[in-house]
Amino acid sequence: MSEVRPIDPVAVPGECVALPCAQPARARRERLAVRLREGVAVLATAPESVRNRDTHHPYRFDSHFFYLTGFAEPEAVLVLVAGATPRHILFCRPRDPDRELWDGRRHGPEAARVRFGFDEAYPIDELDARMPDLLADQPVLHCVLGESAAWNQQVSGWLAAVRVRARSGVRAPDLLAEIRGPIDEMRRIKDAGEIATMRRAAAISGRAHRRAMHAALPGRHEYEVEAELLHEFRRSGAQAPAYPSIVAAGANACVLHYVENDAALRPGELLLIDAGCELDGYASDITRTFPIDGRFTGEQRALYECVLAAQAAAIAAVAPGASWQAPHDAAVAVLARGFVDLGLLQGPVERVIESGDYRRFYMHRTGHWLGLDVHDAGEYKDRESGDWVRLQPGNVTTVEPGCYVRPGEGVPERFWNIGIRIEDDVLVTEDGCEVLTPDAPKAVADIEAWMRERPRA
Ligand code: GLY
Ligand code: MN
Ligand code: MN
Repeated sequence: MSEVRPIDPVAVPGECVALPCAQPARARRERLAVRLREGVAVLATAPESVRNRDTHHPYRFDSHFFYLTGFAEPEAVLVLVAGATPRHILFCRPRDPDRELWDGRRHGPEAARVRFGFDEAYPIDELDARMPDLLADQPVLHCVLGESAAWNQQVSGWLAAVRVRARSGVRAPDLLAEIRGPIDEMRRIKDAGEIATMRRAAAISGRAHRRAMHAALPGRHEYEVEAELLHEFRRSGAQAPAYPSIVAAGANACVLHYVENDAALRPGELLLIDAGCELDGYASDITRTFPIDGRFTGEQRALYECVLAAQAAAIAAVAPGASWQAPHDAAVAVLARGFVDLGLLQGPVERVIESGDYRRFYMHRTGHWLGLDVHDAGEYKDRESGDWVRLQPGNVTTVEPGCYVRPGEGVPERFWNIGIRIEDDVLVTEDGCEVLTPDAPKAVADIEAWMRERPRA
């Protein structure tokens, strides 16, 4: 009988060479080190999270950690020594044939060092033993402050271990500095590789919206439409939705974070879909609103055209040097005028804006940064001046005005329960902006034409 060779669960296929993500991640770490000037930065990836009993949520790395490493495994810590002799160090899970048989392959420190462009890499269970040496005589420890008691305790342990060496002339860091601010600022400007990934994510989500529109037949349910979105995301290689998909028919669209997705689709109502995939860590975020039976009613159309015009005005205000607030102000101006013209609010328009009365029907802001997180890292106001930040080439923001009419006193009944949002992802360019999500139809004529082409059930 021939010898039965055990499978080798730990064999990581492929040569041990630097991966394409290694170079940009290393360049980011180098820029961060220059920005920090001195000290040691320590950043852990996200913990695994139990869903129930012994089953975990699908693992998602920490966005800051991934931005600086490209490394997607759990139980990993980046240590970056800034200053005259920088060191890029990764702590990660060691190879373990038993665990890899059950849980999947690991790189292990040596392969991770080469593939992800580190100077040194060690098993994660050596972190506590090595940190006191790494912190000795360093003036600053840059890390995440105040996020979890366990992390605070671990950091305190390292500092205490350095302090006990005081009689040998070793000094512990005098300063603890929050590491997220500087990384947030870097993440606000996307590089060419990030923009390329976001374009691909946007294209997948655009296709998913087109598919979902064709699937939204009267009599079906919101979850059936959600399934079409997920189908298109996964068949296109996206790893997951970037956030829980909102598929909201009729009055459900007036619940801003509606996620039940269990209602039947009724003719005569609108369907609002806010959904986008995450591809290789990067989010897309698209909202479309369209009539379930393929044709807008007069009231739906009037409100829809108002939101669409608000979105066009907001997108036109996205340009380098413009205030972050400019697209929001542009959207509010158009919406307020529309609300008065349609009899939802009493004019004059200036008073509707100044008093904030428009918030009865438009209660959220017009956008947010988009990137590794759907609500991405980065400040909106300058810390020193307190002014809204200025848009810069490489920023990606959503532009997502809406209108949500709940039944109420003084609200014309013909508009009750109409909820509309139109959302695109917009890149600030050198001379203006580019909509990254043009594929899903949004002009009334384009929506109605696309709906006419849908296959009958
Ligand atoms: N989908 C989340 C948002 O639009 O902010
Ligand atoms: Mn959004
Ligand atoms: Mn959205």
